[in-house]
Amino acid sequence: MSFGKDKKALLSRRTIFKAGLVSGMAMPIPMTVLGQAPNQMRPQQGDQLVFDEGDRIGELIGIDMLELDQQPVSALARDPETETIRDGSRLNRVMIMRLDGQKLSSRFQANAAEGIVAYSAVCTHTGCDVINWDEGLLRMACPCHESQFDVYDGAKNVGGPAPRPLAMLPLEIVDGIVTVAGIFKGRVGFTQNF
Ligand code: FES
Repeated sequence: MSFGKDKKALLSRRTIFKAGLVSGMAMPIPMTVLGQAPNQMRPQQGDQLVFDEGDRIGELIGIDMLELDQQPVSALARDPETETIRDGSRLNRVMIMRLDGQKLSSRFQANAAEGIVAYSAVCTHTGCDVINWDEGLLRMACPCHESQFDVYDGAKNVGGPAPRPLAMLPLEIVDGIVTVAGIFKGRVGFTQNF
């Protein structure tokens, strides 16, 4: 009887393995097995954001440090427990800004925290950093081929060759600090990256 049970279990495992091969599904592999360094990991839920440029580089970003509709600032995620700043990949860089939450497209309000939003800094065209700002139109702009992104509409591409919006990083405010509420929404980087 026990041999019958073992055989059933073996068949069951084979069936699962075969199904995985046929479907092309990869078994989940923990991050630690992949050996990805903590500073290379994409921003994680609970990470705090810190300035990535200027006089305040490395400083935690408080809710009151950003002014309405001003030029976005470059930021990185920081693990609050280890204080590791995730600066090991340029795909981790985000541009954050404070918007009028009432005017932000309703589809993206869940990703904002009291009007503060964060978008990937990497252009979806060929990967330049989207560091320019059109203060009249309130659009992020890429210096390489002039793509433009509407920050009030989920960084939708509204000009130039970029094929899709910038990825959005969900935020929340925890103890007054701008904090990551989840993984990126949308694909980070440009098409040839993946
Ligand atoms: S890389 Fe941004 S528009 Fe070309």
